[in-house]
Amino acid sequence: MLGIRAKIVLPFTALFVATILVVAFLAARVTARTMDERIQAQMTDLTAVLSQAGFAGNPNVLRKVKTIVGGELATVDAGGAVLATTLRQDEALALGRLLAAEPPAAEAGAAPTRRLRLGVCVYRATFAPVGASHWHKGKAFLYLLAPEAEIRAASRRAARPILVAAACGVVAVVIIGYVVGHRISRPVKALASQARELARGGADGRLAATSRDEVGELAGAFNALLASLRRAEAKLVASERLAAVGQVAAGIAHEVRNPLSGVKMSAQLLRRRLRELGAGDEESVGVMLAEIARLEVIIDDLLTFAKPIQLKRERGGLNAVVGEVLDFMARQLEHAGITVRRELDEGLPTVALDPQRVRQVVLNLVLNAIEAMPNGGTLTARTRATDEAAVGELDDTGHGMAAEVGERVFEPFFTTKRGGSGLGLGVSRTIIEAHGGTLRFQPLETGTRFAFTIPRG
Ligand SMILES: Nc1ncnc2c1ncn2[C@@H]1O[C@H](COP(=O)(O)OP(=O)(O)O)[C@@H](O)[C@H]1O
Ligand SMILES: [Mg+2]
Repeated sequence: MLGIRAKIVLPFTALFVATILVVAFLAARVTARTMDERIQAQMTDLTAVLSQAGFAGNPNVLRKVKTIVGGELATVDAGGAVLATTLRQDEALALGRLLAAEPPAAEAGAAPTRRLRLGVCVYRATFAPVGASHWHKGKAFLYLLAPEAEIRAASRRAARPILVAAACGVVAVVIIGYVVGHRISRPVKALASQARELARGGADGRLAATSRDEVGELAGAFNALLASLRRAEAKLVASERLAAVGQVAAGIAHEVRNPLSGVKMSAQLLRRRLRELGAGDEESVGVMLAEIARLEVIIDDLLTFAKPIQLKRERGGLNAVVGEVLDFMARQLEHAGITVRRELDEGLPTVALDPQRVRQVVLNLVLNAIEAMPNGGTLTARTRATDEAAVGELDDTGHGMAAEVGERVFEPFFTTKRGGSGLGLGVSRTIIEAHGGTLRFQPLETGTRFAFTIPRG
């Protein structure tokens, strides 16, 4: 797999290096050729000047001139015979042979330059006809010979700075490429290793955003993701715990239900007996029965919470259910100093409801109302019809709810009461929503209103 470094930095580095090399190579070639041409021109000029100086036939003078100009000199006649020269004898002989085969005169008009191999050494030669040759009857030529290798070396020397600069450029580009690549990939790698570390270490910790660039942004995004993962994890743990608690609670509720119904039956029997005997003690048995009903509600709430509810719907009136609960709780309400007002709409249409479940809801709301009015008050139970639903409302004149509590009252286990289960409203809402209705509360000037709807459909 190619890393970011290889994908981005390598191609650019290669491009830079290639460009530098091509440009440097062309520049070096041009410089070398220019140098070569300049040497050539100097030789031509020098030859022209020297050939007119009048000493061409004198080997001693030629030797002195050689030390000044730095090249070999030779004077030859039109037939190619060497008249005077600074060349070594073997080279002079070779020159004589070459020029005899191809005498200078034959080249008149051509560029007066030739390459001549004399023994092992190749010379570049320029020549010019010698003027005023009083020492020689025929026409003569002066040759200036410079070793080709030296000219080449001079040209190369001229081009060398360019090549050195290019090499420095290439090294610099490679170093910069490496550094840039490192700077790009290092934070990403650091981030990756941090993320791995976090994954291994589990729960807490965040990625440190080291920079304000895209990598920093990435770290921020990672952190957001991490936070939401942790929230999800916490939720999962909470719901798992809730499920476990629900299972246990449901088990206990189930065990308590049967003995409780035995107690209830006995209490009912007792009340009937007392009534028959006219003993007048039935009232305390009534309170007993109301308390048993409260226990039943708690058990029902727990069981409803633990299991998905299945409604047993039938067509019925809401008034009957509400009236039943109020009758049932009459003694306890009276006992708590609460006046009950019934504002039940007689023309309320029937709806499809599960009477037992809706009774559970109303009982929960009435119990909450009683608990909200420890010093007594008024409980108004109202039913009314809208176009879509039958509505039940329970208004109390109790202490009301703190503003910050709000919708949390519907959360399972949320309670502000000592010994409260916190299940009542949550379960009630679940039951009402299973009917397709809503359960809401509304603060009153004094007290609270809880209203639920059961759709007509
Ligand atoms: N009529 C009410 N007036 C004031 N607060 C209420 C009323 N009904 C419910 N609440 C608040 O909602 C909370 C949750 O109620 P609920 O789910 O029935 O659980 P519990 O009754 O066990 O506390 C209560 O603890 C209480 O703070
Ligand atoms: Mg309650």
